[in-house]
Amino acid sequence: MLHGKTIVLGVTGGIAAYKAVELLRLLTKAGAELHIILTRSAQEFVTPLTFQTLSRNPVHTDLFNLISEQEIGHISLADRADLFLIAPATANVIGKLANGIADDLLTTTVMATRAPVLLAPAMNMNMYHNPLYLENEARLRRHGYLFVDAVKGALACGWEGEGKLQTPEVIFQEAVKALTLPDLAGARILITAGPTREEIDPVRYLSNHSSGKMGYAIARAAWRRGARVTLISGPTALAPPWGVEMVPVESAHQMYEAVMARVGECDVVIKAAAVADYRPLLRAEEKLKKQGEAMTLELVKNRDILTELGHQKGERLLLVGFAAETSELLTNARKKLAAKNLDLLVANDVTQEGAGFSVDTNIVRLLHRDGRIEEPGLLTKEAVANLILDRVAELQRVKEACHGTIGAEAGRAV
Ligand code: CTP
Repeated sequence: MLHGKTIVLGVTGGIAAYKAVELLRLLTKAGAELHIILTRSAQEFVTPLTFQTLSRNPVHTDLFNLISEQEIGHISLADRADLFLIAPATANVIGKLANGIADDLLTTTVMATRAPVLLAPAMNMNMYHNPLYLENEARLRRHGYLFVDAVKGALACGWEGEGKLQTPEVIFQEAVKALTLPDLAGARILITAGPTREEIDPVRYLSNHSSGKMGYAIARAAWRRGARVTLISGPTALAPPWGVEMVPVESAHQMYEAVMARVGECDVVIKAAAVADYRPLLRAEEKLKKQGEAMTLELVKNRDILTELGHQKGERLLLVGFAAETSELLTNARKKLAAKNLDLLVANDVTQEGAGFSVDTNIVRLLHRDGRIEEPGLLTKEAVANLILDRVAELQRVKEACHGTIGAEAGRAV
């Protein structure tokens, strides 16, 4: 995900400095090359050796270190960064940066970099709400510095309130976003994911094997690319993606209501959910008792959300559907593309190894309205998500030429 990206991670002196170790681990695991700068006070909390071992690069601590000046030098570090990340960032370092003070290696290097700078503040809650701090933060934001807001919690100083460092996982997500081209900025994308559950009685339901992984991967990727994302999800075991508006639902009917209530505010709908086609005619109030050797359950059809969207969509809405098949993939998929009036259909044979439910990979075909079919082969669900969004961005650009503003905010190349 971050292969080929160089991140300079600055760690300043706060009790949360130890969390930078976990952040470093997440970033290196994702493939990024990390260079670490520890301030003098950070070294009171954490040791250079930990960061050196995990980053496999020398850790920088002194402004005038002759060896590192010769080998790398702070200016070259500033030039090589694709992203400059400071976590935790104290009130002191934020104050210095906001006022153009460069009196140590970290502040000097940040001043010299042209890379995006992402700051994750951590401090006492009274400091975090101090007007001088707020002015400094606002000033940096005006100059394009990015922030991962601190959160509420128990602070090391004994207070309970805002000022706690955001979790390493969320800082990691924000770092990935800062390194991603925001080509979907301004787009409002609604995604459905997971299975639905159709209740038979208070303890039983009809459902399917959908894990939600594909839809969640699309939601994460769309957020990183700058879209405003709403994820309407049936029950899954997955954590809600950061930055995404989550709407949990259970039944196909609830999903229908949730989609219809929001579709008016969307530019794109991507229906990755495996919606139950039928539900029990009657839901028993009490648990059904077993009786004879066989039992018949009468089912009635659910409304097809995608078909209804396809029929009512105007020129603006872009509709992407999925087709989960076990045979005659292309014939069935072509029929769904036409019958549901879709702009793009993602078809997969769920019986193929490496495709379908629960796994982290997928083998899809992309069917376009003009008859084109793309066969990208076996990919991770994250790569499939980005491929679908590449096509969405292209289709949006075509529509935009006639109607809209999608991508108008996308100007920053990283
Ligand atoms: N879909 C939907 N509402 C339903 C059923 C399906 O919106 N009640 C959507 C799915 O989210 C998916 C697409 O329609 O994007 C195709 O779903 P799929 O289950 O593959 O096909 P069906 O249309 O249900 O047809 P069949 O089950 O006969 O293959």
